[in-house]
Amino acid sequence: MRVAVIGTGHVGLVTAVAMAAIGHDVVGTDTNAEKVSLLQRGIPPYYEPGLEQALEQNMAAGRLSFAPTTEEAVREAEIVFICVSTPPRPDGEANLLHVERSAADVARHAPDGTVVVDKSTVPAGTADRVRQTLHREGNGSRFEVASNPEFLREGTALHDSLEPDRIVIGVESDTASRALRRLYEPLVQKGCRLIETDIPTAELAKHAGNAFLALKISFANAMARVCERAGADVTAVADVMGADPRIGRAFLNAGLGYGGSCFPKDVAALERLAARLGYDFPLLREVDALNRQAIEATAQKVEEAVWNLEGKRLALLGLSFKPGTDDVRVSPALTLARRLLTAGAHVVGYDPQAGPAAQVELPELEIAGSPYEAAAGAHCLVVATDWEEFGKLDLASLREVMLYPIVVDGRNVFDPDDMRRGGFSYYPTGRPPILHDLTWPRESNASLRTDLAAPQSVGSA
Ligand code: UDX
Repeated sequence: MRVAVIGTGHVGLVTAVAMAAIGHDVVGTDTNAEKVSLLQRGIPPYYEPGLEQALEQNMAAGRLSFAPTTEEAVREAEIVFICVSTPPRPDGEANLLHVERSAADVARHAPDGTVVVDKSTVPAGTADRVRQTLHREGNGSRFEVASNPEFLREGTALHDSLEPDRIVIGVESDTASRALRRLYEPLVQKGCRLIETDIPTAELAKHAGNAFLALKISFANAMARVCERAGADVTAVADVMGADPRIGRAFLNAGLGYGGSCFPKDVAALERLAARLGYDFPLLREVDALNRQAIEATAQKVEEAVWNLEGKRLALLGLSFKPGTDDVRVSPALTLARRLLTAGAHVVGYDPQAGPAAQVELPELEIAGSPYEAAAGAHCLVVATDWEEFGKLDLASLREVMLYPIVVDGRNVFDPDDMRRGGFSYYPTGRPPILHDLTWPRESNASLRTDLAAPQSVGSA
């Protein structure tokens, strides 16, 4: 089928590549000319495993191209995906201006009969607005409207799009249903489940899914606080809970909490949507509050471990909002970094992918080229993102370069026994800490103590 994709962010670009990979002719477009120019040369504007290769293959096969304007992209489209960003307004409500503008452009340039599909995560009711805009801005052409929420995760986005758990199509006409079923036929053939609903159900299902996953994470983080007070181990509690198939183990990892471009925004947007519809949903406000509390709890552990933060050198491992991506949008790691910097610490961050993006976001952060470089001379090492490589660090080398052998593990990447054997004072999340006597730094590192800079001014007692 001839497919156009408007918006080449994480959802749009992966959708374009995936649709080309299953045999459709795809044209992508974006209002950001620089992005389009990169894509036309086969360069993805962000890091996603396997994306560059898939882009190259599908462009070389002639199934995928990029156009600088919506007009060129949608001219011959049978299906148009709207994949533009829906950033939160200050009150948490989704800003749908880009969706409206995209719909208006489609109305002016797409052929009669095109099926216009919302893939951006949008509040229930958006498809009606899109339909209205298509009608008002068009030249008398008829359009079909549908909702087809995307469940891809960053870091595994291509896999999630090509082998999804489920495909949801929200439709209100046979024409739209037939078109989307034809589009997804190659995936359905491979055994993927396709669920057809009405449009508001499809729109709400996406918000409900993301909000529920966020709820699981916040529940795990609340349990972590209780476990810390009770001397219990939240990881084992989650294993026990997760062994019940009605609960499931996924998304019960306590830590710094959730971030990224979806969960924080979607929890707020669903709460706002419910409020607008006359339903108060305090549970969602609590999910958000617990998520913020998770960062503060970690910051307090650092303070507990090193005492005053002024002049202390802290190594922060992980800057992206989760492993496998260079995305730092709403990254809990950066929120923690800000909190520690504001308290007067010198923070040296390391991330396998997100160093440059973090530097732009937070120029006060020093970026190191390796975990050991970040740890050199540090009073404390803090793990903020659970990149697999962090759990495999050589603990003896780490301890050797650190000023104080203190680790605050905001993602429980280390084995407590290894930390005990390694001689670290170890503060995990929701698990008992290991406290070594830290009366004085080791002889070999004593010269590094100059790092503990004197405070600029000392108030009188
Ligand atoms: C999410 C949804 O999973 C996906 O279906 C939707 O399409 C977009 O939003 P993504 O934002 O890529 O995907 O990240 P995800 O892997 O879901 O992780 C979200 C956040 O939760 C990350 O910050 C991660 O570190 C955190 N998380 C996840 C936890 O803190 N604990 C967990 O147990 C799982």
